[in-house]
Amino acid sequence: MKILGIETSCHEPAAAVVGDGVKILSNIVASQIDLHRAFGGVVPEVAARSHIEVILPVIETALEQAHVSWPKIDAMAVTYGPGLPGALLVGVITARTLALVKNKPLIAVDHVAAHAYANFLGQKTGKPDSSFRIPDFPLLALIVSGGHSQLVLFQNHFDYKVLGETLDDAAGEAFDKVAKMLGLGFPGGPAIAKAATQGSPLKYSFTEPKLDNQYDFSFSGIKTAVLRHLQALVKKDYRFASHHIAPLLTQSQVNDTAASFQKTVVDWLVERTLMAYKEFEPKTVVIAGGVAANQHLRQQLAAQLPIPITYPPINLCTDNAAMIAGYGYFLAKAKRFSNALTLETEPSLSM
Ligand code: KG4
Ligand code: ZN
Repeated sequence: MKILGIETSCHEPAAAVVGDGVKILSNIVASQIDLHRAFGGVVPEVAARSHIEVILPVIETALEQAHVSWPKIDAMAVTYGPGLPGALLVGVITARTLALVKNKPLIAVDHVAAHAYANFLGQKTGKPDSSFRIPDFPLLALIVSGGHSQLVLFQNHFDYKVLGETLDDAAGEAFDKVAKMLGLGFPGGPAIAKAATQGSPLKYSFTEPKLDNQYDFSFSGIKTAVLRHLQALVKKDYRFASHHIAPLLTQSQVNDTAASFQKTVVDWLVERTLMAYKEFEPKTVVIAGGVAANQHLRQQLAAQLPIPITYPPINLCTDNAAMIAGYGYFLAKAKRFSNALTLETEPSLSM
């Protein structure tokens, strides 16, 4: 079964064709990072306006690269939430219209759940991966991105429980904000990870907030803690604006702060994943979302979990439409279709 996936929830309009939920036939992501870099973060209106311009060519390219014509597409899957309202609307309206015009069943996909399904995609375009095994259930997924941080236990494709989630900022958001304070630019995750390789992770310490649910996360406190730490390093008080700090820092202060911050966040993520592993004894543990691209997180989980950790290649950790088509396949098999005349976006959708 061939599914065409469409994703426009944030700043990366994307389309992909996936066979049987596991085989990537094409995976096109038209990143807008250069459009947003000048603003130091994603500007929702800029994202939506750009999606309108590129989404149809992106879809056409995905079909062309997959060598699949419209009659061969069995169903269409589209992200309907969570995400930026205007950005989501572009994808959903495009998918609804095409589903009606091309007479295809339409599947509404939860972007966060779909991140976990990047781990089911066993073949990149043209490169069969012989070591690939479809993940087994029960499956524990740590989904950490710029918009979400969740620890989810999947009993099967549709029966899942969110064990814990962030009470405030997402993990990736903390990476992005701290990178901005350090003058490392946007997106922050890769920049922090790079600076961290040159720094000492034990140089500075940041304390963990106490939370009621042992599986929840909170990342807004560490942002403020890093800000106060940097203000103290440059000998200023709490009124000194964060965007004036970076030019006053030495390279080693930047690198040591990046390494210490990354270690702290990764420790929190690993600790909860290990606790959940011990309590629920899943057959598979997967990581997903942009922060799953972080090498230190991958290494720590691999070192501390008693079973191998599964993670997608980096281009499938960050937003893409292959994961939408991938999860869409399992929903299509269960005949969980949506009405192309009425499907609405759900910007605050929660798993
Ligand atoms: O999944 P994603 O592409 O978009 C959302 O759905 O949010 O995740 C983007 C996030 C950004 O916050 C980015 O800084 C973070 O993932 N990220 C990383 C790394 N690469 C991307 N965070 C830590 N380490 C990385 N190597
Ligand atoms: Zn995402």
